[in-house]
Amino acid sequence: MTQKLTMLLTAGAVLFLSSCQQPVNNKVAKKDEASKYFDEPVITHKVDSVLSMMTLDEKIGQLTLYSSGWDKTGPSMNENYINDIKAGKCGNIFNAFSPDYNRKLQKIAMEQTRMKIPLLFGYDVIHGQKTIFPIPLGEAASWDLKSIQKTASAAAAEAAAAGIQWTYAPMCDIARDPRWGRVSEGAGEDPYLGSKIAAARVHGFQGTDLASDTTVVACVKHFAAYGAPEAGRDYNTVDMSERKLRDVYLPPYKAAVDAGAGTVMTSFNDLNGVPATANHFLMTDILRKEWGFNGFVVTDYTAINELVPHGIAKNEKDAAALAMNAGVDMDMQGGTYSKYLKELLKEGRVTQQEIDNAVRRVLRIKFRLGLFADPYKYFSNKREKKLTYSKYHMSLARQMARESMVLLKNDKETLPLKKGQRIALIGPLANSQRDLLGSWHAAGDWKINKTVKEAMEDQFGRQNIRYAKGCELRGDNRSGFAAAVSAARHSDVVVMVLGESAEWSGEAASRAHINLPHIQSELLEAIHKTGKPVVVVLMSGRPLALDKEVPMTDAMLEAWFPGTEGAPALADVLSGKYNPSGKLPMTFPRITGQIPIYYSAKNTGRPYTKTGKEQKYRSRYLFTPNTPEFAFGHGLSYTTFSYSAPKLSTTKLEMGDTLHVSATITNTGNYDGTEVAQLYIRDMVGSVTRPVKELKGFRRIFLKKGESKTVHFDLTMNDLSFHRKDMTWGTEPGDFKVFVGGASDDVKETAFTLVK
Ligand code: NOJ
Repeated sequence: MTQKLTMLLTAGAVLFLSSCQQPVNNKVAKKDEASKYFDEPVITHKVDSVLSMMTLDEKIGQLTLYSSGWDKTGPSMNENYINDIKAGKCGNIFNAFSPDYNRKLQKIAMEQTRMKIPLLFGYDVIHGQKTIFPIPLGEAASWDLKSIQKTASAAAAEAAAAGIQWTYAPMCDIARDPRWGRVSEGAGEDPYLGSKIAAARVHGFQGTDLASDTTVVACVKHFAAYGAPEAGRDYNTVDMSERKLRDVYLPPYKAAVDAGAGTVMTSFNDLNGVPATANHFLMTDILRKEWGFNGFVVTDYTAINELVPHGIAKNEKDAAALAMNAGVDMDMQGGTYSKYLKELLKEGRVTQQEIDNAVRRVLRIKFRLGLFADPYKYFSNKREKKLTYSKYHMSLARQMARESMVLLKNDKETLPLKKGQRIALIGPLANSQRDLLGSWHAAGDWKINKTVKEAMEDQFGRQNIRYAKGCELRGDNRSGFAAAVSAARHSDVVVMVLGESAEWSGEAASRAHINLPHIQSELLEAIHKTGKPVVVVLMSGRPLALDKEVPMTDAMLEAWFPGTEGAPALADVLSGKYNPSGKLPMTFPRITGQIPIYYSAKNTGRPYTKTGKEQKYRSRYLFTPNTPEFAFGHGLSYTTFSYSAPKLSTTKLEMGDTLHVSATITNTGNYDGTEVAQLYIRDMVGSVTRPVKELKGFRRIFLKKGESKTVHFDLTMNDLSFHRKDMTWGTEPGDFKVFVGGASDDVKETAFTLVK
């Protein structure tokens, strides 16, 4: 380009962009003026005008995302990101999170680049920015969509003040294999619950206005089917039928897209032979054409480069072509678009239109975030200070943590603990600060957490707590056993905090056995032998296999990794200040060998039904029951609930009509409490085999002691639909069962027929 042309272009760009950047201060813009400004057709027009002034290099820069080097999850591909920002070769940064640093980088983009296109800052704000909420699997156990939305919006507000506009969440991967470490980041095994939670999280992060300085754009990940790796090993191959993909794995991503999520991340895995990052069927046919997604698609970390070891590209240049041709807009950290797109265009292997469309999608999000209007609005020390660990966020964290805890077992009303009881507090996690936050805790500071020991001392009185660690999380050192046994002997009840370290779940943290490490199990055995009542509190990022341990306990509470306010919340639950109401979003097997185990299995041609008689040629194990330790939807309360049989508005449902289902629930115990009533269906005969149960509705209801309430559900044709034999989506006439109850294995049933 001649110098003169460059000067002309620069002058034009400055003039034009200053017009795009009206109103400069979003807050002073009148409401109608602002909404017009963020109107889609207006944005499209502005995006096209910006695009028309960009050079090819600048365009490719907008398709490039580099890590700042603060917080990485893989190899550093570019230590030189600041120079690249200056050169217009990098339009997006992740892992930088502070108003000052992000402002400094933004200043470079705004003052030293020709086009002055604001940078977009991303970060893994998964369950909080600084105030850390329970891990997503824990939040899912609350089945409380309102609370989940609230924590996502609090996370967004803290992140947005710290200079972030883009979170890599929600993770919408259905997971039915608890060996996979990333089950902790999702909503569990069920497409219905997963879809509701995915939508709630998107609404929470994005709010009603992406341009607000308290919201961030969501990133639906990991598209697609990342949660089904063979053998539960992270990054491993995924191979499944299209029917299973569409009926089970795709719905939560789709729900998140329908909720308006602005971006989608590709997954690392291959799907039926084609890695997601090169998968046209996923990124273009399904995502854009079928679902009408109009945001942008970013790769996961170096996922384009990884097409080479996947064995579908000879080199990174071929890999970049495959990704661009598939419909992938932005390269996270791999630098392949930056290096090769220009050559590929020259060689005709990618088209100008593909590149332009990708840039359009990225710019559109930057416009919608209000970055062109005010590139600095997200960097606010004042707002960060005000919001971070605010009273409201901390109380939200405590409430969400209470709601996430699942009472798995409670014999002889061991819980809640009684006033004045002498409590032995034992276990490797009882005084751990760091583990409470779990994996992906963003900028959360574990040093501010109270440990379980401290929170219990606060709640029950220091004089009533006798603490002994007993053992480490793993290993063979039994030297702490004697002190732990002695603490138990001198107490009325024992609370043991056992489980996993925070690092044992999350990315690259799969486990081949999901039991408690043997040292913890032995410690439990030693304590059990004292004859004292034993309460086990579990901290874990996944369901555990506890067949050996359950019989040695009187009560068991799953606390997940409960976050910044997790320990006080746990003390609230143990003391009865909060009556637990969580329900499992994922099945707990008895032993690892039962995996994959999930409630919505198929019946098979030889179902095993326990009759007392030997049933040799049936679908079963020789020495282990088929049933799980704790089923999907299971979760006890300190009170008890009874369910009436479900009532239907009709037993002959006409095609196209809606079935009304109701059931009356009574609190029959001694405490006020919250119950999550669950509605399941079974399609008895289909053109393809159907699951024995499918969740289709749930209601959280609070019932005072002795109180009854009726819950109502509507079952629509959509709820009865599936991918039929010919792969069309729809219903089939015939018999259905309807179940309502407090867990997938504890329901009352009735039936209806769908007639033509
Ligand atoms: C890799 C992870 O798979 C993904 O979930 C995350 O968002 C990126 N790294 C960025 O940190």
